[in-house]
Amino acid sequence: MSSFKTLDDLGDVTGKVALVRVDLNLPMKDGSATDVTRVEAVKPTILELADKGAKVLLLAHFGRPKGQRHSTMSTSFVQGDVEKVLDKEIMFIPEVMGPVVEQSIGILSDGDIGLLDNVRFWPGEEANDPEFAKGIAAHGNFYVNDAFSAAHRAHASTEGLAHHLPAYAGRAMEAELKALDAALGNPEQPVAAVVGGAKVSTKLDVLENLVGKVQHLIIGGGMANTFLAARGVDVGKSLCEHDLTDTANRIIDQADHAGCTVHLPYDVVVAKEFAANPSSMRVCNVHEVAEDEMILDVGPQAVEALGDVLKTCRTLVWNGPMGAFETEPFDAATVALAKTAAALTEGGSLTSVAGGGDTVAALAHAGAKDDFTFVSTAGGAFLEWMEGKALPGVAALTA
Ligand code: 3PG
Repeated sequence: MSSFKTLDDLGDVTGKVALVRVDLNLPMKDGSATDVTRVEAVKPTILELADKGAKVLLLAHFGRPKGQRHSTMSTSFVQGDVEKVLDKEIMFIPEVMGPVVEQSIGILSDGDIGLLDNVRFWPGEEANDPEFAKGIAAHGNFYVNDAFSAAHRAHASTEGLAHHLPAYAGRAMEAELKALDAALGNPEQPVAAVVGGAKVSTKLDVLENLVGKVQHLIIGGGMANTFLAARGVDVGKSLCEHDLTDTANRIIDQADHAGCTVHLPYDVVVAKEFAANPSSMRVCNVHEVAEDEMILDVGPQAVEALGDVLKTCRTLVWNGPMGAFETEPFDAATVALAKTAAALTEGGSLTSVAGGGDTVAALAHAGAKDDFTFVSTAGGAFLEWMEGKALPGVAALTA
């Protein structure tokens, strides 16, 4: 892993202004956040800087306002959630640069925290306009990026600022980068990857990158149906991208050449309709799926065999559920495999790293989230990292 500076490299920060990029793009309902994991993740960085006497200015986006002020997308909407998690009052500043920001800094005491408005209200953010970045940078003494989940965006606040101020990774960013390096950068072998979710088309680059890096590729979710169809299995009316069967076969060939074993389910849970506990539900061999049935989960025998595979591995990287986990009992394979991974992690034989939207929810549902070595708060950034792409926000810190 290329090296980057962390908060340990900062000297005395008393009275200095820290511009700290955080990800406050929180899921909201009725005016408050339904999940504050991202705030909890950046809390150590914010409090560490505040405790050391810096004036901390939080810089974040919220939604996609496309370069103009939008009444429902001000970061003031998450101020209360941030205050609750930090257990501290913070000052909302309705700008990101200019006299209002300057005056606010004058009002803040050492160790106080300010929250700048949604940086995406200005077109210079997404355009990564150097003048815009310079304007923000003028208010700070140094820049801390603690928003791994926005690091796949080459924006002024995620990338540009690093060119105008001394740049440091925050504690959450540091933990993400170390965990991701342990999972795919420089992992203990053998490595297994679980890739699930609905569609192969959204994860083609992920699969192509992984086959060259892992020894076991476990495919689940709707994606597995496309691979099964590619192998000549009749998947009935299952979700399946029939136009991608050639691509699936190509990935299987690439895996063969690279010495990576692709694991597809050999028993599956099927039903005639997609509903909770449908009476038509049954477990069958993949070759016995009827024309009017759909595959909704990996079967119990395959799950057991996959658990045995994990027992032989030292590292696991997980993205995407194994079945239609939001509807019971099609959560069974995801829950069982997540529990096995959690137990192996607890036992010390496995380093387990997971990430990506649905994955965190699936692991939390399985009660396994806290036992994984690391669970990323990132969605798109985690996927781009699994695709093997350089993330601009990370590259700027390591340059
Ligand atoms: C996220 O919610 O995944 C990040 O904050 C990035 O948001 P974006 O997809 O709008 O760039």
